[in-house]
Amino acid sequence: MKPETIAIHSGYHPDPTTRAVAVPIYQTVSYAFDSADHAAALFNLEEEGYRYTRIGNPTTEVLERRVATLEGGVAALCVSSGQAAVNYAVSNVTTPGCNIVSVPQLYGTTHTLFAHLLPQQGVSVRFAGSDRRDAIEGLIDAETRAVFCESVGNPAGNICDIGALARAAHKHGVPLIVDNTVATPILLRPIDYGADVVVHSLTKFMGGHGTTLGGAIVDGGNFPWKDQASRFPMFSQPDASYHGLVYTDHYGRSAYIARCRSVYQRTTGAVLSPLSAFLLLQGIETVALRIERHVANAKCVAEFLRSHPLVEWVNYPGFRENPYHELAQKYLGGRACSLMAFGMKGGFPAAVKFYDALNLVTRLVNLGDAKSLACHPASTTHRQMSVEEQRSAGVTPEMIRLSVGIEHVDDIVADLDQALQAAGRYS
Ligand SMILES: Cc1ncc(COP(=O)(O)O)c(C=O)c1O
Repeated sequence: MKPETIAIHSGYHPDPTTRAVAVPIYQTVSYAFDSADHAAALFNLEEEGYRYTRIGNPTTEVLERRVATLEGGVAALCVSSGQAAVNYAVSNVTTPGCNIVSVPQLYGTTHTLFAHLLPQQGVSVRFAGSDRRDAIEGLIDAETRAVFCESVGNPAGNICDIGALARAAHKHGVPLIVDNTVATPILLRPIDYGADVVVHSLTKFMGGHGTTLGGAIVDGGNFPWKDQASRFPMFSQPDASYHGLVYTDHYGRSAYIARCRSVYQRTTGAVLSPLSAFLLLQGIETVALRIERHVANAKCVAEFLRSHPLVEWVNYPGFRENPYHELAQKYLGGRACSLMAFGMKGGFPAAVKFYDALNLVTRLVNLGDAKSLACHPASTTHRQMSVEEQRSAGVTPEMIRLSVGIEHVDDIVADLDQALQAAGRYS
């Protein structure tokens, strides 16, 4: 099926008991056992079924199947936020003493996780000088356990050459983990280009309405964990925390995500609530239509900004002169995302004046809402970084990040225009 259809139907048939057409919200913590033998069979993984919502829930499972199918993966785990998804996805392949290699252009909190928290747990993160294959490959060594990138970086707007990064990672026997939050599977499916694991903040374009936090980890099902057992013994050696379970034997192609659920979700509990899963499913039903409008509006807004005398630069890969234009053609089918950045003439003070004058476009730290949103990364999402770190993450003081919404484009442009004029009057 095509993505538009998958987004509406995948993972659910009308409920067999009630014939409910909308996905029911199973707001329950636990599930009744028929007998001690039934419980034992469930706990021994001999029988399929539910035990406790921290491990699995029927509403969340529909969301997991839907996101996995949209991304072309074999299975998914949905968790309480995008940040939990990034943490679990990386933790699932790492142990103290090893490293991961990452592109430098990352969402601010992911950078904080990688630069500060993971090292405290004994996992070092090697930030490459750029998102290019040679910069990444030069950092991979015998202790590397993954390569990490954002398919479209937030807020840098860079587009990673997923195919090239996957080839580099695979050459050295490690998986490529891709955060596909900004692109969504409507514009790009990283697994089709060789990525092994895809993570999402479902909070953004997938949910689409700025109401619900959630994250997803999708297992591409193609990484040969058994062949790379010396780096990744956790998948093919008995797990002492789970009665000696061997994930590759029991779960085959979905060994990675099964371990993520059994080890991380079960024991550290970043669980998505069933109500949130329902709300995210509602959002996903319209994701293809919304992305179409986001992309069309973004093109108009980028052209308006480029022609404005108070705007110094516009970072929009839809423009031919943008360094990522070719990759946007290849990986996004020419449909540059609606996340873009521009720089005000007059630097930090002008950016602040513009920001304060916005009326329709909301000032906040979020993206991917139906509403148009603006953020000043240097004073918010990336403020915990040094100026050098900000620069390598693609953040500068005069930069405004826009997440162009799906309102009528004339109204979005009119608001940007009056805010630019207001900034111009004071500068
Ligand atoms: C690319 C990216 N990944 C992960 C996250 C974290 O998502 P959440 O806010 O759902 O934890 C964000 C949040 O903005 C993001 O932009």
